[in-house]
Formats: sequence, C-alpha cells, structure tokens
Amino acid sequence: MVHYKELGLVNSNDLFKNAVAGGYAIPAFNFNNLEQLQAIVSACVETKSPVILQVSSGARKYANQTLLRFLAQGAVEYSKELGFEIPIVLHLDHGDSFELCKNCIESGFSSVMIDGSHLPYEENIALTKKVVEYAHAHGVSVEGELGVLAGVEDDVVAEHHTYTQPEEVVDFVTRTGVDSLAISIGTSHGANKFTPAQCTRDDNGILVPPPLRFDILEEIEKQIPGFPIVLHGASSVPQEYVETINKYGGALKDSIGIPEEQLRRAAASAVCKINIDSDGRLAMTAAIRQELATKPGEFDPRKYIGPAREELKKLYAYKTVNVLGSAGKA
Ligand code: G3H
Ligand code: 13P
Ligand code: ZN
Repeated sequence: MVHYKELGLVNSNDLFKNAVAGGYAIPAFNFNNLEQLQAIVSACVETKSPVILQVSSGARKYANQTLLRFLAQGAVEYSKELGFEIPIVLHLDHGDSFELCKNCIESGFSSVMIDGSHLPYEENIALTKKVVEYAHAHGVSVEGELGVLAGVEDDVVAEHHTYTQPEEVVDFVTRTGVDSLAISIGTSHGANKFTPAQCTRDDNGILVPPPLRFDILEEIEKQIPGFPIVLHGASSVPQEYVETINKYGGALKDSIGIPEEQLRRAAASAVCKINIDSDGRLAMTAAIRQELATKPGEFDPRKYIGPAREELKKLYAYKTVNVLGSAGKA
C-alpha cells in the first residue's frame, strides 16, 4: 500500500470547495503517456492552476499501472523543479468496480470515480457507498455518477442521453456519501458529440450545437446547493485541429464539441471539475500529422512528438485561462 500523501498528491476536497466558492472549475485532463503528462504539468505550473491527472482503465492497461504511479509522483517533483508547486490530484476516471477502485487507492490514487450510472439506481447506490466507505477510510475523494451520457461510456453504448433527474440527487449523495457528482446534461464523450442535423447554423454558416440543459443543472443546484458537480465529455473539439488533421491525411467527419461559452457558464456554477480528453488527442494528432507530412526525412520520434507536446501545452494553458478560470488559483 502506498498512500497518496507519500507521493506528494492531494485529494480533491479543498480544491472543489474553493472552486465552487470562486466560480471556476478544476481541469481534469486524461493522460496515457509521458508527453501528455509533461504538457499538463508544465501548462498548469505556468498558469498556476491546480490540476486533476486523470487515468482511465484503458490508460492503466496502456501505460502500466506501476509506471503511472511513478509518473504521477514524478509530476509532483517536476512541478517543484519548474519553480511552483501546484496541487495535483491523481484520479481514476470511470472506475467500474470496487476492486479497481481499491487497487488504485492502494497504489497511490488520491481520488476515484465509481461509475455506476449504467446500473439500476439501488445497485448504483450500493456499489458507490461501498467504494466511499473504503476510500474515506484512506482520505481518498470519491466521484459518483447519476444519469447516462449519450455515446460510448465505459464500453456501454447509449443512443440517447438519460439526463440526471434532479429529484434523485439528494437521496443519492446522502445515502452514498460521495464527494462530487457527475451529471448528464447533454455532453458526451469523444469528438462527435452532435450530428450536423442536431445543429443550427449561425450567420457565418458555422454549425451551432443545441445548448446544454442548464435548466437541469440549476434544478440540481437547488436540490444540493454548493455540492461539487462534475461535467464529463466537455471537449470543445477545436475546428482548427480537425482541419489540420484532415489536411494532412486524416478523415474526421462531423466532429462537433461543446462551445466554450457554455463551459464557461458551467464553470461559473457548481460545476467544479471539467473532464477533457478528446481535445488533447486532437491537438496531438494534428501536430504529429503536420510534422510527419511536412518533414518526410525526419525519423527521430522526438522531432514530431516534441512539437505535439508543445501544442498540447498551449491547449491546456488556454483551457485554464480562458475556459475553466482555474489559472492563478493554485
Ligand atoms: O471518458 C473516457 C476518457 O476519454 C478515457 O478514454 O477509456 O479511451 O482511455 P479511454
Ligand atoms: P471528452 O471526450 O469530451 O474529452 O471527455 C472526456 C471525459 O469525460 C473523460 O472522463
Ligand atoms: Zn468521462
């Protein structure tokens, strides 16, 4: 057993309290490799933003769970070396079982998500409560989820959103004891969050997706005032990345994300954690495609992954300053 405090990590409780009170959101950026981690940490140190390093089951398989723990510990040291120690949370994204959550807690995670959103309500409560009891005994924060995002989530495909029902949230958070709650108000995972048919066009012909269900968010906030809310599937899918990818041989179609002003509005409310993975994937892929296409003689991976890391760093810094409002809050 390695406790997260030994690694220099923090849990998310104080970060969320400050974020809700201050009307901003903490970035939860997924990482799977060294370069993503370097970009996240250097961007957040530069903008003085607290950060949640988010690891999915897929990331654990890809990068090896032991290496990930040392990478997270390295992130704390790297932040110090860069001259400013930011609060860093190591969080399990979409944990699907008690055993996985326990395993992560034992290997140094300071926060876990137990995603029972696909289960019948009472089963979601029972599983989440079990994880909370174990996690809280170790000072680890727990995120639960109510409502189902459309698209692919935890290998489960849902054709439609099942929005979070505001009348369930008081019962869920009191009976489970969770520290934060992920909700479904119209976001979804990946780079294809809306079809063009679901969108309208603005005066410049740009596709405008339907707005998130802020009415549901407001109703949830009325039920559990000040309680930390989490937004998954919150990538904006910047069109410049999509265009660069397609210009250099990619074939992305109908890639539409959540407009930034809606994320700003959410961050100003009780939404205090915003999950972003796809935008990082797009930034990295765009930069790597461009480097490979424009420098065909190059075969040193550092020469194309390096610029991708720079692009990622720019993206993450931009998010903390212009979208989440977490810059300067470390
Ligand atoms: O919510 C899902 C995250 O984007 C992680 O994706 O399971 O492919 O690592 P992944
Ligand atoms: P995106 O696919 O919109 O980046 O969402 C990521 C996420 O919710 C991770 O849990
Ligand atoms: Zn998610």
